[in-house]
Amino acid sequence: MASRRSPIAISGGILISKLQEANNRAEELRSLIYYHDHRYYVLDAPEISDAEYDELMRELIAIETEHPELVTPDSPTQRVGGEPSQAFKPVRHRARMMSLANAFSFEELAAFFNRISGELGTDQIELVCELKIDGVAVSLTYEHGMYVNAATRGDGEVGEDITANVKTIQSLPLRLFLEAPPDVLEVRGEAFLSKEQFKQINEEREELGIPLFANPRNAAAGSLRQLDPKVSAKRNLDMFVYALGYVEGVAFTDQWGLLKYMEAAGLKINKHIKKVGSVQEAYEFCEYWQDKRHSLPFEIDGVVIKVNSFARQEKLGATSKAPRWAIAYKFPAEQKTTVVLDIELNVGRTGALTPTAVLEPVVVAGSTVGRATLHNEDEIKRKDIRIGDTVIIQKAGDVIPEVVAPIVSKRTGSEREFAMPHECPVCGGEVVRPAGEAVARCININCPAVIFEHVIHFAGRAAMDIDGLGESVAHQLLDKGMIKDVADIYYLTKERLLGIEHFADKAAENLQAAIEHSKERPLARLLFALGIRHVGAHVAEVLAETFGSIDALSRASFDELVATPEVGPKIAESIIEFFDEQRNRAVLEKLKSAGVKMEQEAATGKGIARNLNGLTFVFTGGLTQFTRGEAEELVKSMGGKASSSVSKKTDYVVIGENPGSKYDKAKALGVKIITEDEFKRLVQEISSRG
Ligand code: IVH
Repeated sequence: MASRRSPIAISGGILISKLQEANNRAEELRSLIYYHDHRYYVLDAPEISDAEYDELMRELIAIETEHPELVTPDSPTQRVGGEPSQAFKPVRHRARMMSLANAFSFEELAAFFNRISGELGTDQIELVCELKIDGVAVSLTYEHGMYVNAATRGDGEVGEDITANVKTIQSLPLRLFLEAPPDVLEVRGEAFLSKEQFKQINEEREELGIPLFANPRNAAAGSLRQLDPKVSAKRNLDMFVYALGYVEGVAFTDQWGLLKYMEAAGLKINKHIKKVGSVQEAYEFCEYWQDKRHSLPFEIDGVVIKVNSFARQEKLGATSKAPRWAIAYKFPAEQKTTVVLDIELNVGRTGALTPTAVLEPVVVAGSTVGRATLHNEDEIKRKDIRIGDTVIIQKAGDVIPEVVAPIVSKRTGSEREFAMPHECPVCGGEVVRPAGEAVARCININCPAVIFEHVIHFAGRAAMDIDGLGESVAHQLLDKGMIKDVADIYYLTKERLLGIEHFADKAAENLQAAIEHSKERPLARLLFALGIRHVGAHVAEVLAETFGSIDALSRASFDELVATPEVGPKIAESIIEFFDEQRNRAVLEKLKSAGVKMEQEAATGKGIARNLNGLTFVFTGGLTQFTRGEAEELVKSMGGKASSSVSKKTDYVVIGENPGSKYDKAKALGVKIITEDEFKRLVQEISSRG
């Protein structure tokens, strides 16, 4: 059969040269784009506008779309689109990935220096000081200058393949800027998230009601462990390189030379590096950055001090875990003392009263802290925190402020112990703390604080998603008596909305349109929005699927409810209690009359690979490679179900570290138990089939 190409070849040079021309232009565009990526993402010194850059990208995409045969794997258009099925496959490191020994004081640094001076027979040792980036260690391999793979450290010998996810890091060159690239260049570095990115990701997660990442490092790890590189790409990871792995075809004499070589190759190195000749100077560098660390746009947790000469490094060797030629000086968690001015109570959507310490404002780990949650009454008692106490505070994971302990010696006798009130501080309603529970609640269903929180939850992104109904508008609607419950939202007219401060025609119209639009949300969203205790977004989905309408759910008996996957006695009771409450029934009636959708639409049969169809998973214990939420999302995205309790209907119990009673129950019921790794393999196998 004649190939599609032959007529082109026969018809002479014109068409060939056209293709050649396209190829040349594509290559030219790629070089230009690499150059500008480097200016922008590595050097932070762009030379062209975003619009001009987009134009280059558009032209390249147009050529590659017309001639797919011209696409190269290192093309900037290919950053996203790697093979997720390859994700996490084991990769044996050609040179071991080691960690570092730690020092926590000048004395420990001096001991390190004395040891190496003894072994090298001199105290004239050049050292390189670098920042210790708080991210995830990654090994990158370039062959003949082309990016070929990336792996996590794993146990140091075998890591996991994260090539596709790392490829989405924009500062990473897919082709090295070297005239004569070495056959193999394996470099190590740290993938990380800027503080700003971390904040944005957590804000988004908060809105969606998914658990927050505790710190940027966890967020970076989570982002690298996404099965879908498109998700990684959205996280805007970045990366600094700082060490050598395995190489062929190039030799280095020292760490400083390596850093400069990597920089010239287009890789991103951190510019805060210093060559020093003594342990005192190294310590000065540590002290300087301990003080200035918060001015950096990314997190560091210390300074790494390395012997510069590679010959000396070799002489010093390594232990089984860490090189003897380097040490990490770790910063202490920054603590401050301040005074507890008051302990305030916040009333949440479920009426839960959460005590918060109001503090004399003080700067800790780079930002001013004026409040810190004290969680609950027992926690305050356990730590013996009193109003008026001078306390030590710090930020957990350098992010969330917490009160560590009172300084008892500073007490004057005028401090006051905290006592949970019997009346709600907002409405005066009764406060109840059920036996065995840590949380005290206001049980007045008309409590304005509870209603306010409920309105915010109802209108939130993961619930009815009413754009424009945020805190300030909700406050006004309630204060002005325009709404008394969430159903009243659907009876607001444009005229009434104009009564909101700073609301002109357009804003009122937009809000009204958003409210109208929200009537069509799927049943699961409405169920979640109603704020029934223990009914989160996931359980709401299961209930919507099982019962199909609010009416049917409201009529369900306890037995019918507990027979539903995911639903245990606690949730069942809470649902029954909710529908028993006259006020809730009235709200539902009003929602119905306003035209809010109260039924499930017929199944749409989404076109995704639903290979876990019908299988129910329960996760228990600490997962190390996914957050619980991610693992559950993954199961759902593949058509399975994630449940929080083990029953005979459970198909798999996935165990992480220190699995709890669910593990015992699974064993007792004979449910199949798999490890987190086995779960990951199962998912990979299915996604590579799909
Ligand atoms: S050198 C063989 N340099 O800290 C030595 N590590 O606690 C390899 N890290 O595993 C590491 N910044 O993930 C080195 N400038 C830096 C670093 C750095 C962060 C990380 C790295 C390492 C961990 C050890």
